[in-house]
Amino acid sequence: MTEYKIALVGFGGVNRALAQLIAERNARWQQELGFSLKIVGVTDLFLGSAIDRDGLDAATLVALPASKGALAQLAQGSAEAFNEAVIKQSGADIIAEATFTNPKDGEPAATFCRWALEAGKHVVTTNKGPVALHAQSLKALAKAKGVSFEYEGAVMSGTPVLRMARQTLPGAGLVGFEGILNGTSNYVLTRMEEGLGFAEAVAKAQELGYAEADPSADVEGYDVRLKVVILANELLGACLQVSDVACSGISAITCDDIQQALASGQRWKLIGAASRNQDGSVQASVQARPLPGNHPLAGISGATNAVAFDTKLLGAVTVSGPGAGRIETAFALLSDIVAIHATKHSA
Ligand code: HSE
Repeated sequence: MTEYKIALVGFGGVNRALAQLIAERNARWQQELGFSLKIVGVTDLFLGSAIDRDGLDAATLVALPASKGALAQLAQGSAEAFNEAVIKQSGADIIAEATFTNPKDGEPAATFCRWALEAGKHVVTTNKGPVALHAQSLKALAKAKGVSFEYEGAVMSGTPVLRMARQTLPGAGLVGFEGILNGTSNYVLTRMEEGLGFAEAVAKAQELGYAEADPSADVEGYDVRLKVVILANELLGACLQVSDVACSGISAITCDDIQQALASGQRWKLIGAASRNQDGSVQASVQARPLPGNHPLAGISGATNAVAFDTKLLGAVTVSGPGAGRIETAFALLSDIVAIHATKHSA
């Protein structure tokens, strides 16, 4: 029976949800997946850190309060975040990186991933920053070290998109995609169709936990732009940088715009898209536009995300599902670990 030792970097909603899944499901995973997980380290800039090579109790970690220095309450814990020690010296095989997204330079998450890969550890992350900005160099480093760098949760949380397309669409002639890739903005547009004002709808999305700490990343399209860069570079072989993608959001759309569209059978959606040109180059954009009722993304409502892949052999192939949420995003980390396990056992 395989047991992977895992260290959790960032202990906010996502890695806490992973600890919860470990507490509840480890025995089942042994049977279903052929491995179990042992948490040997946790570090968080706010909560502190803890290392125990014999294993930290997952249920105890989940029950810790979200108060400053809370990890010091553990016998093995400290109020200080010893990030480098947890990543390099906890004996972990896998580092689960789920710290905040920094859209400017991807730090400090990118450094955490680099430390882990350099130390020969697999990395699973849900963080859009390091993936959108540094995927090429991190993938090259992982390859050089013979380990995996996996990031399914960076786009559409646990809904399979990156791995699904990578594994099942080769040969189908993928030439582009259009996606509803931000739950907050789609929720806001849906509520505005029901008559709610823009500000009230954003406040409701914040209450429900969909929105980023600064919701302008959601409603101005910046969050979608990172996801478009990730999808285009990964699936269309592009080398896009964030600044290559023209970006606008939904903040200028009025209730009148929305009602007029509805009256003619159309729905406003914030669409992140990329397509390959005749010359092989890839162009990408983030822009709100009214979709006709028969468009594959027109029926996607509320916080649900979806991506419609444009393929030569199949036409549009559409995947929809949750794009955010604690457990949903923690599942993405599990799916990355399942992929690592499969790679090791097929070698
Ligand atoms: N704030 C994001 C959203 C979370 O609303 O989709 C997931 O990236």
